[in-house]
Amino acid sequence: MVEYQHSPVTVSGKRAVVIGGTSGIGQAIALGFAEEGADVIATSRSEEKVDETATEIEARGVETARITCDVTEPDSLEAVRETAVEELGGIDVVVASQGAISRASVQDITDEEWDFVTDVALDGVRRVTQAFAPAMDEGGSIINISSLTAQLSMANLPAYTAAKGGVEAFTRAASKELAPDIRVNAIAPGFVITPQNADTYAEGTEKRERIDERTPIGRVAEREEIVGPAIFLASDAASFVTGEVVTVDGGFSDSAF
Ligand SMILES: NC(=O)c1ccc[n+]([C@@H]2O[C@H](COP(=O)([O-])OP(=O)(O)OC[C@H]3O[C@@H](n4cnc5c(N)ncnc54)[C@H](O)[C@@H]3O)[C@@H](O)[C@H]2O)c1
Repeated sequence: MVEYQHSPVTVSGKRAVVIGGTSGIGQAIALGFAEEGADVIATSRSEEKVDETATEIEARGVETARITCDVTEPDSLEAVRETAVEELGGIDVVVASQGAISRASVQDITDEEWDFVTDVALDGVRRVTQAFAPAMDEGGSIINISSLTAQLSMANLPAYTAAKGGVEAFTRAASKELAPDIRVNAIAPGFVITPQNADTYAEGTEKRERIDERTPIGRVAEREEIVGPAIFLASDAASFVTGEVVTVDGGFSDSAF
């Protein structure tokens, strides 16, 4: 019998890599992990944003490294893996939070638009798992950021919706192959305010009012509200949780009215 001693809901002492970690939800997760005592490398394609986020991580007294990556290029993910192993001494947690979106109808979407979205949002998730899993230690945790749209369809987002459905199916598939050493889960956020969509969801807009009204918690989420579920999935408290999708949507998706 295992005796309960203290809450294992912590990432303190873990070594994490956050892909798409210099903006939006990924950045909130990277800074939240650092705040809780994890060493964190937050990466994206922009050298300037990598540097800014690394400076914020360092200010929290933990280790980091500065490296860019593009999830459409497997070599760049491998370079991040090597940097994490060298600079942090290993990898316990990987978060795939990179994003790409294209608004077009099913009828009008072009091959280029479809491929752009799925290359980043779905193939990118696969490449992240392929690149990092071989270097992850026992007790490792991969967290893929999906979306409510994987379960609830929306007009004019066919590639994004299909990619996120694929992310959830891939998460389940990978969780079977990587067990028992590495757990693979997804978080499906609902409507979250990030710098990119702050105008779309601005208070007073019709869209914002409709979302607030339909959401049992009565509002859209702040990006920091995705951090707690990520800490749980990354932590040893989730040691028996794998292949799951944690929906973080204020009750939106199962609210009848
Ligand atoms: N904001 C929301 O309401 C919401 C809701 C559900 C799901 N999501 C998902 O959350 C994740 C983060 O989205 P966000 O809203 O924080 O957006 P964001 O644009 O702020 O963050 C996306 C990050 O991905 C990086 N990125 C884009 N293409 C990349 C590439 N080829 N290689 C490496 N990095 C790349 C960007 O530089 C950025 O750092 C995405 O997967 C998105 O689909 C967001």
